[in-house]
Amino acid sequence: MQNILVTGASRGIGLEFVRQYDADGWRIFACCRTPGQAAELNDIAAASAGRVSVHQLDVDQTESVLTLKAEIGDQPLDVLLNNAGVMGQRNAARGDIDYNAWQGAMVTNVMGPMRMVEAFADNVVASAQKKLITISSRMGSIGEAAATNSIVYRSSKAAVNMVMKIVANDLGAQGVIVTSFHPGWVRTDMGGSAADISVEESAGGIRQVIAELSTADNGAFRNYDGGVIQW
Ligand SMILES: NC(=O)c1ccc[n+]([C@@H]2O[C@H](COP(=O)([O-])OP(=O)(O)OC[C@H]3O[C@@H](n4cnc5c(N)ncnc54)[C@H](OP(=O)(O)O)[C@@H]3O)[C@@H](O)[C@H]2O)c1
Repeated sequence: MQNILVTGASRGIGLEFVRQYDADGWRIFACCRTPGQAAELNDIAAASAGRVSVHQLDVDQTESVLTLKAEIGDQPLDVLLNNAGVMGQRNAARGDIDYNAWQGAMVTNVMGPMRMVEAFADNVVASAQKKLITISSRMGSIGEAAATNSIVYRSSKAAVNMVMKIVANDLGAQGVIVTSFHPGWVRTDMGGSAADISVEESAGGIRQVIAELSTADNGAFRNYDGGVIQW
């Protein structure tokens, strides 16, 4: 059976990943900050005969990540899916920067995925597929940056892109495929109701690209529809 660990599985794109991988019969470690409030996720787990388990995880907290590691042990992870993320401060621009919000965004969006890599790299290496995926954002592309705002969110996603490029250089030697994704502008709490695409289209597109990844995609930045995004 194929295994996946998903962070930020309580709602939005993360919850939809769980729905779709569950429908395909995967073993899923579905992680969220407050399992007691994740009603839809708990319903999926309850109907899965143990194939989907719900785990408490706050990627901001090293202790939380280590507790999860103790729960999962040495079980192989075909896909480690770093999905959890925050906006930090919407539209942050010069003259209006909330430095506390910026710090929070860096902790969650940059250090969170790295904490997960440090704890679970061996589980990915031990798996058949060896895929380490991070949901970044096109807003983190330096090559495409033309805006004058959203400094907080953009800088956090640019930083996690660099983190994953270094992780790709590191773990690529062990056959791991490290790939960052832009999920599209998606109708979630973060993306808002006016966004371009549904969670079904976003997660479905990313899943198809993940399924087709090869070692040539180690260190790549891809769109949900498979297109290449410049760093
Ligand atoms: N929606 C878009 O248009 C869009 C575009 C580009 C990139 N993205 C990226 O896609 C990913 C998913 O976004 P989304 O639209 O689904 O957002 P969302 O609806 O706001 O959901 C965010 C998820 O991340 C979790 N989370 C936040 N901080 C966390 C922490 N410290 N530890 C563990 N989980 C945490 C949330 O958990 P709680 O329920 O506990 O808060 C929630 O499950 C994010 O990385 C986001 O930056 C989204």
